[in-house]
Amino acid sequence: FIFLLFFVFSLICTWKTILLLPGLTEKMRNDFNMMKDLAIHTRLPPERRQCEIGRLIDYIQKDDGVQKELRDWGLSFDSNLLSFTGRVVQAEKILQAGKVFDYNPQFADWSRETRVAPLISAKPLDNWLLIYTRRNYDTANTLLQNLFKVTPSMGIRMNKATMIEVDDRTEAYLRVLQQSITPDTNIAVCILSSSRKDKYDAIKKYLCTDCPIPSQCVIARTLSKPQTTLAIATKIALQMNCKMGGELWSVEIPLRQVMVVGIDCYHDTLAGKQSIAGFVASLNQTMTRWFSRCVVQSRGQELVDGLKACLQTALRDWFKWNKYLPSRIIVYRDGVGDGQLHTLVNYEVPQFLDCLKTVGKDYNPKLTVIVVKKRVNTRFFAQSGGGLKNPPPGTVVDVEVTRPEWYDFFIVSQAVRNGCVAPTHYNVIYDTNKLKPDHVQRLTYKLCHMYYNWSGVIRVPAPCQYAHKLAFLVGQSIHREPNLLLSDRLYYL
Ligand SMILES: *[C@@H]1O[C@H](CO)[C@@H](O)[C@H](O)[C@H]1NC(C)=O
Ligand SMILES: *[C@@H]1O[C@H](CO)[C@@H](O)[C@H](O)[C@H]1NC(C)=O
Repeated sequence: FIFLLFFVFSLICTWKTILLLPGLTEKMRNDFNMMKDLAIHTRLPPERRQCEIGRLIDYIQKDDGVQKELRDWGLSFDSNLLSFTGRVVQAEKILQAGKVFDYNPQFADWSRETRVAPLISAKPLDNWLLIYTRRNYDTANTLLQNLFKVTPSMGIRMNKATMIEVDDRTEAYLRVLQQSITPDTNIAVCILSSSRKDKYDAIKKYLCTDCPIPSQCVIARTLSKPQTTLAIATKIALQMNCKMGGELWSVEIPLRQVMVVGIDCYHDTLAGKQSIAGFVASLNQTMTRWFSRCVVQSRGQELVDGLKACLQTALRDWFKWNKYLPSRIIVYRDGVGDGQLHTLVNYEVPQFLDCLKTVGKDYNPKLTVIVVKKRVNTRFFAQSGGGLKNPPPGTVVDVEVTRPEWYDFFIVSQAVRNGCVAPTHYNVIYDTNKLKPDHVQRLTYKLCHMYYNWSGVIRVPAPCQYAHKLAFLVGQSIHREPNLLLSDRLYYL
């Protein structure tokens, strides 16, 4: 048990937003040094933050004008932070093929420990393409040699790639892909000489829709730092393996016959035309394989119609894999604004239930729908040794600051190096599974370990992050629904 201090103070956040956001241009945001300098002021460590909050409260208490305003509203601020007890759930073990790692979540990631063990399921690179421009010939060769060095310990069998040189135009890449991809091609790796978006988009669009095979684009510059090349080759090999349907690691999931679903939305604010929802559902007990599909909808259409179709295909796929249907379904719904909560409860959930009825006459699975919210102003501090620290990963809070009329909780799942860690808020809005809150919280925390593009714990359950990445890729680059032949692989990582 640790003591947690809690503070919700939207005033400060609103005030910060007003002060900072209009002043930041895109160019400034991309300026690494400037953002770093700014972070010194915006990402305060727990003790500094407490001080600043204390100063603001002090100011509020002393200023007569502010006091009068607050009195008129019937508001007052406590001068101390709210203090209560939270708890930390047990750390997870990371399972790879034949090996188990005790992971200490205080460390940012576990790549050091797991690097030497084989993956749960390694897809071979028998027949693959490596495409590069003349100027990047050496880079391509170095990548190939480094992949030969790092893949054996992962258990990935690898042949030499078919090396293809192209000139630096988008059409040249597309032509080569058209000519060289065969039904046996495992993956196409493209080394790009710059981060130009149109070329990347064209390649992704072609390989996700017209000619559905996994692809990996790497910017040549990424591969050019000699001291990091092996680490980068390892990362790329892992990413390629996921895209081909491989499985990296797992955690113990005691709940049986459960399908976990993640949903997130992407709103194309620039074009203002379409919204995209990513839908990702687990396909097996270990939650190492996922079904991914997305809905591209123009304005005026209801998102939920598309989501129903996704759920139907996911259940069909689940049946193909497992020869039975899941008896429990748990949906993590991200990308919902506070104002949309009612729509979700009154409209989306009944539609899901309807959809389940159409699957089979006697099919009546239990359903839980959990709204996931990352943008919260709440911060928790752990009291330790007379000082304040970030609460450790795995901290669960479901007392004092949660709402009595809701079934909700906070989890701090990730470790941060600087600033105050942001908890994620979970709100169970529908539940016929009747799992104990502790079990829902444990499952949620476990799922935060299962995002394969990061060997560490993330802020949201993996299916939400997958859905987010899928929707982002489609919204940014592809603009239509990817080919369903790719749907049982994490091709969008
Ligand atoms: C999950 O998928 C992996 C690889 O396809 C398979 O080995 C494993 O048996 C599956 N688990 C279940 C419970 O279906
Ligand atoms: C996966 O990780 C790589 C390297 O860290 C990153 O460049 C890439 O954008 C990530 N992909 C997604 C979908 O987040």
